[in-house]
Amino acid sequence: MAYHSNTLVYLVYTDINMDTLRILVVSQKGGVGKSTLSANLSVWFSEKAFKTTVLLDLDPHGSSSTWVREARSSDVVAEHCVLDDFDARRWLINCRNRVRRHVSKVEILICDLTWTSAMDPEVLYEFDLVVVPTSVSSIELSATTRFIETIGWVFKSKSGIPPTLLLCPSRVSEEELATDPFSARDFSVPFMLLPPIYNDDSVRQLFKKQFVFDVNESMAGQSYGRCAQSIQQAGNIHKQAARAVKVTFSDRRFLDTHNTKLSRYMAEKSRTQHPGNDKVIGKPEYSKGNTANKGRKNLSGLSKILESVIGPK
Ligand SMILES: Nc1ncnc2c1ncn2[C@@H]1O[C@H](COP(=O)(O)OP(=O)(O)O)[C@@H](O)[C@H]1O
Ligand SMILES: [Mg+2]
Repeated sequence: MAYHSNTLVYLVYTDINMDTLRILVVSQKGGVGKSTLSANLSVWFSEKAFKTTVLLDLDPHGSSSTWVREARSSDVVAEHCVLDDFDARRWLINCRNRVRRHVSKVEILICDLTWTSAMDPEVLYEFDLVVVPTSVSSIELSATTRFIETIGWVFKSKSGIPPTLLLCPSRVSEEELATDPFSARDFSVPFMLLPPIYNDDSVRQLFKKQFVFDVNESMAGQSYGRCAQSIQQAGNIHKQAARAVKVTFSDRRFLDTHNTKLSRYMAEKSRTQHPGNDKVIGKPEYSKGNTANKGRKNLSGLSKILESVIGPK
């Protein structure tokens, strides 16, 4: 099945194999503008970038999917789904399934999620871009720093292609930005900084009526457009880099752990049969049997991406 317009157009599964750009909009904090960004971003991708787009709203409030459904008509397919089973990684598996059922069938998937400590950061591997909107006051940035520390290992992973982290200054004023709040912080994880989204009271009034990027003459309207364009560019860079990096069998096993009894057994088995195997997991394929690369250090995810874009040093 693939989606094309408000009226669903059903196509044969096997005919479609789109390289879906999967974008997660997430933070542990409410009220920073995740749902507003998710709703506007999904319609922007559909209408300004002409992409088939799904909005997967995992927020219990369902405000982004309501916005997309109730404002003027658009081609975005909005799905609201509350995953409230946190037992034994059930949430991770349910969330993965929700995402994967859309992958390859649409060009853009945007997921709106409020993070809680019960969630498993491994779910971030389902996405190409992880967008974290954050206010820029000192307290808010400290909270964002702590949040990024808890999920940080995903972005430093040496296995496969980690997602790209994008920080989005959200609901900010020009005065706040003048203090250059980001350079004084150490986020311990490589990230790209998106153009800021300005705080504007009119945004609240547009809820369920119009999209903010439609109001082109407002500062806020322009800032949503600029932010969406940058996310699209980051997506292009990520995809280009991901295509250039070969994923080894062991990487793939790491990425595809379904936490089934069988996969746990296999992982256990390979560890006992090949002690030290854990060190091998994650070595990029080009470092094996390639004399030119001998002696090269294991590359981090970001290094892999950079190297594949600008070429080896
Ligand atoms: N750029 C903005 N300027 C002003 N108000 C905003 C902006 N973005 C969101 N809001 C308002 O802030 C509140 C929370 O936004 P929301 O997108 O629901 O945040 P979250 O999903 O992170 O909880 C809403 O009332 C919304 O209208
Ligand atoms: Mg929300």
